[in-house]
Amino acid sequence: MYRDTPKPTRLEDYQPPEFLIDRAELRFDLDAVETLVSAALEIRRNPAAKRGDGSLRLDGEQLELLEIALDDRALPPVEYVVDERTLVVQRVPDRFQLRTRVRIHPAANTALEGLYISGDMLCTQCEAEGFRRMTYFLDRPDVMARFAVTLVADATRYPVLLSNGNPIDQETLPGGRHLARWEDPFPKPSYLFALVAGDLARIEDSFTTASGREVALHLYMEPRNRDKCGHAMRSLKAAMRWDEEHYGREYDLDLFMIVAVSHFNMGAMENKGLNVFNAKYVLASPETATDQDFAGIASVVAHEYFHNWTGNRITCRDWFQLSLKEGFTVFRDQEFSADQGGRDVQRIADVRALRARQFPEDAGPMAHPVRPSSYIEINNFYTTTVYEKGAELVRMQARLLGPERFRAATDLYFQRHDGQAVTTEDFVRCMEDASGLDLTQFRRWYEQAGTPVLECTADWEAGQGTYRLEVRQHTDPTPGQPEKSPRHMPLALGLIGTDGRELPVQLAGEPAPIGPGTRVLELREARQVFEFVGLSERPVPSLLRGFSAPVKLRFPYSDEELTRLMAADPDGVARWNAAQQLAERVLLAMVVTPDTPPPQAFIDAFAAALGDQEADPALLAEVLALPSESYLGDQMQAVDVDGIHRAREALMVQVATALRADLLERYHALHRFEPVTDQAAASTDREPDLSPAAMGRRALKNLCLGYLMRAPDDAVLALCQRQYATAATMTDRIAGLRGLIRLRDTDQAELAEQALTDFYQRWSQDALVLDKWFAIQAQASAPGTLGRVKQLLRHANFSIGNPNRVRSLIGAFAAGNPVCFHAADGGGYRLLAEQVARLDPLNPQLASRLLHPLTQWRRHDASRQALMRAELEGLRARDGISPDLFEVLGKCLD
Ligand code: ARG
Ligand code: ZN
Repeated sequence: MYRDTPKPTRLEDYQPPEFLIDRAELRFDLDAVETLVSAALEIRRNPAAKRGDGSLRLDGEQLELLEIALDDRALPPVEYVVDERTLVVQRVPDRFQLRTRVRIHPAANTALEGLYISGDMLCTQCEAEGFRRMTYFLDRPDVMARFAVTLVADATRYPVLLSNGNPIDQETLPGGRHLARWEDPFPKPSYLFALVAGDLARIEDSFTTASGREVALHLYMEPRNRDKCGHAMRSLKAAMRWDEEHYGREYDLDLFMIVAVSHFNMGAMENKGLNVFNAKYVLASPETATDQDFAGIASVVAHEYFHNWTGNRITCRDWFQLSLKEGFTVFRDQEFSADQGGRDVQRIADVRALRARQFPEDAGPMAHPVRPSSYIEINNFYTTTVYEKGAELVRMQARLLGPERFRAATDLYFQRHDGQAVTTEDFVRCMEDASGLDLTQFRRWYEQAGTPVLECTADWEAGQGTYRLEVRQHTDPTPGQPEKSPRHMPLALGLIGTDGRELPVQLAGEPAPIGPGTRVLELREARQVFEFVGLSERPVPSLLRGFSAPVKLRFPYSDEELTRLMAADPDGVARWNAAQQLAERVLLAMVVTPDTPPPQAFIDAFAAALGDQEADPALLAEVLALPSESYLGDQMQAVDVDGIHRAREALMVQVATALRADLLERYHALHRFEPVTDQAAASTDREPDLSPAAMGRRALKNLCLGYLMRAPDDAVLALCQRQYATAATMTDRIAGLRGLIRLRDTDQAELAEQALTDFYQRWSQDALVLDKWFAIQAQASAPGTLGRVKQLLRHANFSIGNPNRVRSLIGAFAAGNPVCFHAADGGGYRLLAEQVARLDPLNPQLASRLLHPLTQWRRHDASRQALMRAELEGLRARDGISPDLFEVLGKCLD
C-alpha cells in the first residue's frame, strides 16, 4: 500500500552525492522467512559536493532497523529518524563508520526486487533500486563502493553461496550452518550487487583472455537442468572473444558466474562477476527450445557479459543516463549476433522489433526521449526507447564516424571514463573528440522524443541524366514537446537500374565514383535536395539501406518499382523493406475494400522470391512474411483491428491457394534436411543441426507451412500432423502445433485438442516449454480464445507469482492477440484490467508493463476508446495503487 502521491524525480535537480561510501562490509544471515543483514559502511563527505545540513540521508525500504551505531557508539533514537523510505542520521562527522542491522523477509517479497525466493533458492535483483530493500545505503549509481560480503546459511538447504568478485573462504558452522566470504576488488554501485544461495548444480569451463589470463566460467542451475546449459556456455565464450576482437575489452576477474533462476522480472542482470538470468535465457536443448530461443540466449548472454565494460567498469551517473549503458550494450549485442548468425537477417529482426514496439511507444502517451528528463518510477523507463532506440543512436554515430574512427572513439571512452559514473553527454563527447566531427545537432536525438518522418520525392531529367531527390524531415509533437527541430542522421542509399543492377551514385560537382554501391548521405536540414548525375536511365532509389536511421521513410514508389527492389536489391534490409511496403499496400487496400483479390504482380513477386534458390533462406523467410497486425495498425489513423486481421488472413489464404504447389515443393525440399524422429522411440537418426544455415531453412520451411495451413486440404493437414508428431526440434514441433491450433473452432477441432493434450503431457514438467503451451493458446485468433484464457487462469499450472507464466498467458493475450484482445464487447480489456489490479500489489513492475496495450486507447474507434478508458479509470480509482501504475495511468489518461 502506498500512501502519499508519488513525486517525480527530475534530471535538472541532479546533485552530486553529499557523502561517498568507500567500503561496504555486509553480512547476510540467510533464511527464507527472516534474513538478518548487517552492514558496516565506511563513509566520508564528498569534497566535490555542496555541504548540506550536516545530516546523512540513506535509502531504505521495508527494512526493520534492529541496531545502529556510528564509530562503534550505539545511536540513541534522538540522533536519527526512520521513515518509509529513508534513514536520516543527524550531524555526522566528515569521515566515519556506520553500522546497521536490519531484518527482512525474502519469502514475502513478491515484487522480486531486493532479496527474494525463486523456487528453492534465494537470489537478488537490485537494479534499479532494489538494494535499498536489503540494507540502508546511498542507493544511487554514482556512489561506488568496494564490497566484502559474508553469507551464512543452512548448509543442507543452501550448499552453494555466491556473491560478486572472488571467493575468499568458507567455513562450517555449528548448528548445520555454513559461511562463505566474497570480495569484489572493483568499486561498484549498489545496483550491481548480487547474492545467490541454493542447492545448485554447476557446469564449468574456462576462457583464456587475449593477454593469457585464465578465467573460470561457472554456470549454475537447478540440478535437473544441468544438461541444458551447453549453448549458454558456448555463447559466453564467443561473446568474450568477440569483445576482445571488436572493442579490445578483456574480462577483468578470475571468475565469471551465471545463475539461471525461474522467477525473474526481466531478461537478465549484469551484476559484477555474478550475472543472474531468467532461466529462459540460459536453458535450451533442441527438443525444448526453438531456434529463436537459441538466438535469444546467445544475445542475452552476450548483452550481460558486454555490460562488464559498458555498464560496470563505466556506469551511469544517474538513471536518466540509463541508455548510456543499455543503448550501447544493445548495439553491441546486435552486432555480435549479426557476426554470429547473419547480418541482414539480424538487422531485419531488429528493425521489425523497433517498428513493432518502439515506433508505437514513440507515437503514444508514453513517448519519452532516449535520455528522459523526469520519472516517477524508474522501473517504468526500462523501455524499448531507452534500449532499442538508444542502440539506434549509437549505430548512427558509428555510421557517421566510420569503423576506424568509431573504434578510436570507443577506445577513448574506455580509457577516459574507466571507473567513473558518467552521462550520455560524456559518450558523445568521446565520439567527437576522437573523430573531429561536430555532433552538436546529433545530440537532439537524445533529447527529443518521437520518430522523424522523411518525405522523399524525386524527379528525372532524361536529357541531362540527372536524378533529383528531395528529402523533407519532420517529427510530430510528443507529450511535453510541441516543437521539434531537424535532426542530423545518416541516409544510406543506392540507385538501381531496370536490369536490377546498381548504378553509380555521383553527386553533382563530384568526380565520378569508383564504382556503384551504397553511399551514406548526411541529413541536417528540414529540406534537402540531392542531385545525382551521370545516369543513363531513370533509377529506382534504394533508400535507407541497412535502416541507417530510425525513421519512417515515405517515397511514392510504383508497385513495379517495389517489385524490382524486392527481387533485386543487393541490400537485404532494403529488399525486405520493399516486400513489406508492397504487402502493406495490398493489405491496407484490402482493409478498405474486403474481397479485393491481390494484384497478380504481388503474387508473381511472391512466387519469384519463393523460388529464388540463390538467396539465403533465412532472408527469404523475412521477405515473404507479411507485416504484423500491430505494424499494420500503426500505419492507420484509427486502428481497424478486425479489418486488419481479416485482410491479413485473407491474403494468406489467397497466397496459399495460388501458390500451393510452390509452397509444398519448397516445404519438402527444406524438410528433407531435418532428422526424423521415430515417434514411438522418440529417438532421432541424427542430431538436429543448429547452424545458422539450418535455422534459416527451418524458418523458410515453417513459413511455407504457415501459409499452407491457411487453406489446409487433407494432404496439408497430414503433413502438419506428421511434422508435429515427428519433429526433432521444438522449432518444428511448435510450428506444427501452431498450424493445428488453427483448427480450433472448426469441425476438425479435435485435431487441435489432441495436439494440445499431447504437448501438455510431454512437457508438463518443463516450465519453459509449458510457457509456450500457455502462450500459443493465448495467441490463437479463434473466437473462443477469451474464454479459454479465463479457463487457463484457473489451470493448476498457472501461477500469478511467476512472471514468465504471467507473460505467457496474460501478456501473450493482451500484447500478442490484437483481434481477441480488442473484441468489441470489451471482454479482453476487462480481463487485462482485472489481472493488472490483482498483480499490482504483488509485483507492480510487472503489472505496469502488462498494462501497456491499454495505454494505446486513443488509437482505436470511439466505442473501443470508451471501453478501454473505462478500464483505465477503474484502475486509477483503486486505493493504494503502486507508483508504477500511477505514473503510467497518469500519462495515458491526462
Ligand atoms: N540491466 C538489465 C539489462 O541487462 C536490466 C535490469 C532491469 N531491471 C529492472 N528491475 N528494471 O538490461
Ligand atoms: Zn542491459
